[in-house]
Amino acid sequence: MSGLAMADPELEAVANLFRLLADIDYRGASALYERLARDTADDTELLELLLPAAPGDRLPHLLFAAVQYLLLGDGSDPIAVFGSEPYAAFRSWCLDRRSELERLVRTHVVQTNEVGRCSALLPCLATVAERARRPLALVEVGTSAGLNLLFDRYRYVFGPGLETGRGDSEVVLRPRLHGDRVPPLSVPDVPWRRGLDRQPVDVADDDATRWLRACIWPEQQWRIELFDRAVALARRDPPTLVAGDVFDSLPAMVRSAPSEAALCVVHTAFLGYVPDHPRFAELLSELARERPLWWVSGEGAGLVPQLPAPRIERPAEGIWFLYGIVPLGVPDEPPRALARAGAHGAWLDWLDTEDSSRRAAG
Ligand SMILES: C[S@@+](CC[C@H](N)C(=O)[O-])C[C@H]1O[C@@H](n2cnc3c(N)ncnc32)[C@H](O)[C@@H]1O
Repeated sequence: MSGLAMADPELEAVANLFRLLADIDYRGASALYERLARDTADDTELLELLLPAAPGDRLPHLLFAAVQYLLLGDGSDPIAVFGSEPYAAFRSWCLDRRSELERLVRTHVVQTNEVGRCSALLPCLATVAERARRPLALVEVGTSAGLNLLFDRYRYVFGPGLETGRGDSEVVLRPRLHGDRVPPLSVPDVPWRRGLDRQPVDVADDDATRWLRACIWPEQQWRIELFDRAVALARRDPPTLVAGDVFDSLPAMVRSAPSEAALCVVHTAFLGYVPDHPRFAELLSELARERPLWWVSGEGAGLVPQLPAPRIERPAEGIWFLYGIVPLGVPDEPPRALARAGAHGAWLDWLDTEDSSRRAAG
C-alpha cells in the first residue's frame, strides 16, 4: 500500500506526517496513536479520509479526533475499542464510518483547551500582580472555550505544603515541580476578564465540547479529567468570550478593559497558529501606546523573541513551553522568562531568580 501513497504527492505528504508524529509526538505519550499512525502511514484508503480537510489541517490527530468523537457519541473510547485489537479492526471500523469521518475532518480542526497550562499561568499572573500592585484585567487571545480564563477557580498542588487556589475546587492541578525554585503562590485579584478566539467554544454546547475532548489523546487520563471537570465548573458561570480574529478584534477588547486595572494580554499555544508573529508583536506595541500592558505568554521557545533566552539548568521532559512576561509601556520593568513547563502542563520548572527567598530548602 505504501507504493500507492508514494505515487500521489498529496497522500505522500500526509503519510510522512503520520510517520513523523509517530516518532516525535505520540511515542511515549500515546501508545495507541503511535501504533495506529505507523500502520495508517502505509494505508492509502485511510490516508484518503483526511483529504476533505484543508491541506494545512491534515494532521494524523485530526483523523484520530474524529474517530474518538464518534466513539464518545457511542459512549465508548478508543483504548477500549482498539487498544488490544489488530490494526485491521481500526481500519475496517474507519471505512464503515467513512462518510461521518470525512464530514468531521472537513468541518473541524484540531482544537484544544488545556487546563493544565494554568499551573504555569497562575504564577506568571501572580508575578504581574506583584509588580503592578493592582488588580488585573485579563484578555486571553486564542482562548478556545475560555477554561484558562477561570484559573482562579481551580486548586493547585505543587507539592507538600505548596498549595494554593480554591481549596474546595473540583478542578485540581498537580504539576510536578522541577528544580528547587518555588513559584509565587498568591492568587491575583481579577475583577475583569474576556476571551477572544476566531472559533470560540461555548461550554454549554455538548457537541462542541465533545470535539475538544476528542482532541485529547486517549491515554492521558489526567488531561481528560481536568477538561471534564473544568467544563462542568465553567457551565455554572461561563466566561465571556468574543468571536473574532485577533488582528480585527483585539483593539476594541483592550479598549473596553477597566482603566484602573493592570491590563494583561495572555496567550498559550496560540502563536503557532498565527503565521505573522511580528505583526502580532507590533499590534501589542501599538496598543501599549494607548495604555501600558503586560504581555503574558506560554509558547514554544523562540516564538516570543522579546523574552530573554532562559538559562537551561536541567533537561526538560518532552516538549516544553516557555512562559514569561513582556511589559510594554511599563517603566522600569524588563521582560522576564519566568518558567519552562510541559506543553500540557504536566510539569513546571520555575526559572525566575528575582526573589531568592523563594528557593525551597534542599
Ligand atoms: C491550540 S488552541 C489553544 C487554546 C488555549 N489557549 C489553550 O492553551 O488551551 C489555539 C486557539 O487559537 C485560536 N486562534 C488561532 N488563530 C487565531 C486568530 N488569528 N485569532 C483568534 N484566535 C485564533 C484557535 O481557534 C484555537 O482556539
